[in-house]
Amino acid sequence: MEKHWWQEAVVYQIYPRSFQDSNGDGIGDLRGIMQHLDYLQQLGVTVLWLSPVYQSPNDDNGYDISDYEAIMADFGTMADFDELLAAVHAHGMRLIMDLVANHTSDEHPWFKASRASLTNPYRDYYFWRDRPNAWQSNFSGPAWQFDAKTKQYYLHLFSKKQPDLNWANAAMRQDIYAMMRRWLAKGIDGFRLDAINLIDKHGVPDDLTYFPRNGARVHDYLREMNQEVLSHYDIMTVGETSDTVPEEALQYAGFDAHELNMLFQFDHMEVDFDPQFGKWQKHPWSLVALKTILSRWQTVLAGKAWNSLYWNNHDQPRVVSRFGDDRPQYRVLSAKMLAAVLHLMQGTPYIYQGEELGMTNVAFRQLADYRDIETYNAYHEFVDSGQLTADQMMAGVHHGSRDNARTPMQWDDSANAGFTQGRPWIEVNPNYPAINAKAALADPQSLYYFYQHLTALRRKYPLIVYAQYALLDPTNEQTWCYTRTLDGQTLVVTANFTAETVACPAAAAAGEQLVHNYAVAHTATLRPYEVRAILLA
Ligand code: GLC
Ligand code: CA
Repeated sequence: MEKHWWQEAVVYQIYPRSFQDSNGDGIGDLRGIMQHLDYLQQLGVTVLWLSPVYQSPNDDNGYDISDYEAIMADFGTMADFDELLAAVHAHGMRLIMDLVANHTSDEHPWFKASRASLTNPYRDYYFWRDRPNAWQSNFSGPAWQFDAKTKQYYLHLFSKKQPDLNWANAAMRQDIYAMMRRWLAKGIDGFRLDAINLIDKHGVPDDLTYFPRNGARVHDYLREMNQEVLSHYDIMTVGETSDTVPEEALQYAGFDAHELNMLFQFDHMEVDFDPQFGKWQKHPWSLVALKTILSRWQTVLAGKAWNSLYWNNHDQPRVVSRFGDDRPQYRVLSAKMLAAVLHLMQGTPYIYQGEELGMTNVAFRQLADYRDIETYNAYHEFVDSGQLTADQMMAGVHHGSRDNARTPMQWDDSANAGFTQGRPWIEVNPNYPAINAKAALADPQSLYYFYQHLTALRRKYPLIVYAQYALLDPTNEQTWCYTRTLDGQTLVVTANFTAETVACPAAAAAGEQLVHNYAVAHTATLRPYEVRAILLA
């Protein structure tokens, strides 16, 4: 098998708005990130991924870009960026950028020109039609917005301030590639490609039946991008692809596909979706379903493509509140268990800021305490129509809102968790006096050091990166057990997803114990949220 540095990487995602404010305006910024590079380096992560830092009117917190080659004033300047990139490299880490190329902001010069007249050269950079089709926006409501100036509708699969780019337009594609080359020339180490499986919309608007996901031409565009740009640099790429099955992933991320290195798939993020309200109502989930999905990704991609491994990002609720147990007596135990289960699978693991502290969901009292446009739109969609009461919806927001991931990073127990000297753009989770980095760094048993141990093991044992995965006891609803095997060596991972003590014969395996979240081992049982990883003798 070919080996690449990005297979051995551990990525840490920074949501700059919520990471560290350096100038007291309540908004995280690039100089704030620079203050914590030692913390990240000591955690053992090797790549930092920045959510968008480009100029943006912030309708969707930077995922609506009005200038791809300027830094958002809230975050600093291009000089700050250059300094950050150099400092990341000086710390022996790499930096990847978020590339949002399915859409721009409606304030991007291309869209301003496009909307100005029917005949200007940028008209065809976006989708304009006389009549809308039935597509709905991912952020609620119709995906088409009427524009009075030229009396046509434009397409926006996200907010109406995020018009979709027309990838069938070759000049537009070349403009995107040129922009990517200029970032790569600065020395960045790759891209996370936002909503990349949505870029092919051929057939708009006549075919009302399909939603534009994974269209055949996505692969033409990505092969072209690879040939023209990506293949000329030693970089890593990860594409965000909702509603994508493992077989499709082989096309995107196959070792010889010449498209991307890996994908963020969403299957496991939907196991707890409510059939009617999706993420907006709590729904029981099954461990068998969760491990079946992730095991399928492990086996279908094995030897042919590469997995990303993640529980969290800026769009997802906090994993310890979701698949773990955030009650005080179990929070750290269950977060360690989840960390080990994820990081010991085959693939490149991602840690989202605060995950290494076991940060939890937040339950703000009122909608006005939230900031996320998706949350507002969904609230109105369900409450205004009477499908949910305000109380039911607030419970749903507490459960599923993206703002669960976006409360400020909890650095210490001082005011605003040490995130800002000013008033934070979104409130800090009130549990920060107990859950913060300063406390974690002072406690040798903390989750932070557990993650540090996992990243160190990955450097020491190629087996953790490259070995074959096999699921044990697939119908067990309480435990998730699997093996990894490489060159005759086997690692056995056994994890209890419940607050009870359960039988687990595989936990009795004899060998060297690499990972454990309890002080002493039992054999053949697992205590609440216990995880063990044993390298067989
Ligand atoms: C991706 C991003 C999300 C954003 C959306 C539109 O899903 O992760 O935060 O809202 O794309 O850009
Ligand atoms: Ca700031």
